[in-house]
Amino acid sequence: MVTRLRTVRQYHSAHEEFSFLIICKRGHAAHPSTMFSRATAGSSLAKSSLFGPKKVTSVRQYGGLQDKDRIFTNLYGLHDFGLKGAMKRGDWYKTKNMLDKGRDWIIDEIKASGLRGRGGAGFPSGLKWSFMPKKSDGRPHYLVINADEGEPGTCKDREIMRHDPHKLVEGCLVSGFAMGAHAAYIYIRGEFYNEARHLQQAIDEAYKEGLLGPNACGSGWAFDVYVHRGAGAYICGEETALIESIEGKQGKPRLKPPFPANVGLFGCPTTVTNVETVAVAPTILRRGGAWFAGFGRKNNSGTKLFNISGHVNNPCTVEEEMSIPLKDLIERHAGGVTGGWDNLLAIVPGGSSVPLLPKSISETVLMDFDSLREQKSGLGTAAIIVMDKSTDIVKAIARFAHFYQHESCGQCTPCREGTGWLNNIMNRLVTGDARSTEIDMLEELTYQIEGHTICALGDAAAWPIQGLIRHFRPELERRIQVAGGDVVVPVSTPVLPGRPQAIPQAFQKEALGSASA
Ligand SMILES: Cc1cc2nc3c(=O)[nH]c(=O)nc-3n(C[C@H](O)[C@H](O)[C@H](O)COP(=O)(O)O)c2cc1C
Ligand code: SF4
Repeated sequence: MVTRLRTVRQYHSAHEEFSFLIICKRGHAAHPSTMFSRATAGSSLAKSSLFGPKKVTSVRQYGGLQDKDRIFTNLYGLHDFGLKGAMKRGDWYKTKNMLDKGRDWIIDEIKASGLRGRGGAGFPSGLKWSFMPKKSDGRPHYLVINADEGEPGTCKDREIMRHDPHKLVEGCLVSGFAMGAHAAYIYIRGEFYNEARHLQQAIDEAYKEGLLGPNACGSGWAFDVYVHRGAGAYICGEETALIESIEGKQGKPRLKPPFPANVGLFGCPTTVTNVETVAVAPTILRRGGAWFAGFGRKNNSGTKLFNISGHVNNPCTVEEEMSIPLKDLIERHAGGVTGGWDNLLAIVPGGSSVPLLPKSISETVLMDFDSLREQKSGLGTAAIIVMDKSTDIVKAIARFAHFYQHESCGQCTPCREGTGWLNNIMNRLVTGDARSTEIDMLEELTYQIEGHTICALGDAAAWPIQGLIRHFRPELERRIQVAGGDVVVPVSTPVLPGRPQAIPQAFQKEALGSASA
């Protein structure tokens, strides 16, 4: 953990103020926006300088969520997940009062909270929920909960369903009511057997207590919740494929428009939304949108479940404040990178669909939608996969490519054919059995897939490879050269730690796309 200032002041005359390069004990530069206030708060450095008093803006630091601000208070299953335990933790408290305030009040509070969808794309939830028709044209409205959670590295929704299922069930009622829906379908991946069991128990308990049913919570609103078990195809997590699957068809994404809010489940207005998104809604309504908006940076607000896996000492799922620095998150909650931070090679910050970040960026980046987007990656599902220097980075990304080829539903040519090409080239790059020109060809191929398909699986297949080429091109070139390929070796070359001399970057292409899963 970064604790103390070691140095340094630099005078930037252009900006007429000091900027401090803050360096931690072990010599790592820390992110100015996050470390500044920690380092200078209350110190004389902040108030005076050799060059006279200067205006120093204190920058807020993020992270270190306190227990009193946690939404998921049974994340680790230490307490009773049933109704009695849930009520003790504050669930189902005055739910009727929230419904009495009306649909618009709920939507407005969710908008005020700044909640963005936790399923990967980060679309503002209040706005999305407001797309449902205000009045029914005779067709029923449906809420569909996306509990498919197929994204590699991601295991947050399952913790909610097995340890805190009442949060989701209550969330279904309040968000479904806000959409004018009388029924919710929870689409849960088939492998989540125990999670489905706990969920069903919570639903049964809620019916028994009159919290669900013809007069849910005594509100006069009829509301039913059904659990639908999937069969484990990744593509069924895509919202329209999921709808098809509930309808009993193959899980293949639909062309949009029409959007689900107009023509969704069984041809009726539908909103598909993630487990975590809905599970946080009752707490937001009870504590107020402004409370939730007080966490994280502007437009990135709230608390968030993060999964940390891979080469860390203590892999875990943890609720933290949005915008916490990635490095802090790993050191504070996951016991740090195995072998220490300097042993870090790269991090995938948001599930397998987003581009990886090298150590230099991981050092300073904040864990929120906008900060990761600026680094040409994305928050995605906030599932952090840490890779230390023992990782064969090319092989790791090749494994992702294999996954996407396997999971493509095959409807669109760029995805069906392209994911196979990506997989083939990546496999050859693992052993260096390729020509250097194929690196550019591979990159070009990713841009031919990205944005040219029915659903975002095509993008998800393209982005990890773009990230690899952007940050580890020398390693690809080195392998080709070691295998006797055609790359010319210049005299001075950047070297990957612990590896033989690497080939320098011949060309550094700016990536065109931005990534948010
Ligand atoms: C291939 C693919 C798989 C997806 N898998 C999931 C998933 O498992 N869970 C999920 O919530 N969203 C998944 N999504 C995103 C959903 O399509 C949808 O955007 C999300 O459920 C919306 O919820 P939100 O508004 O709460 O974020 C997936 C998208 C794609 C393209
Ligand atoms: S992008 Fe791939 S997974 Fe999505 S619809 Fe097209 S072929 Fe199917």
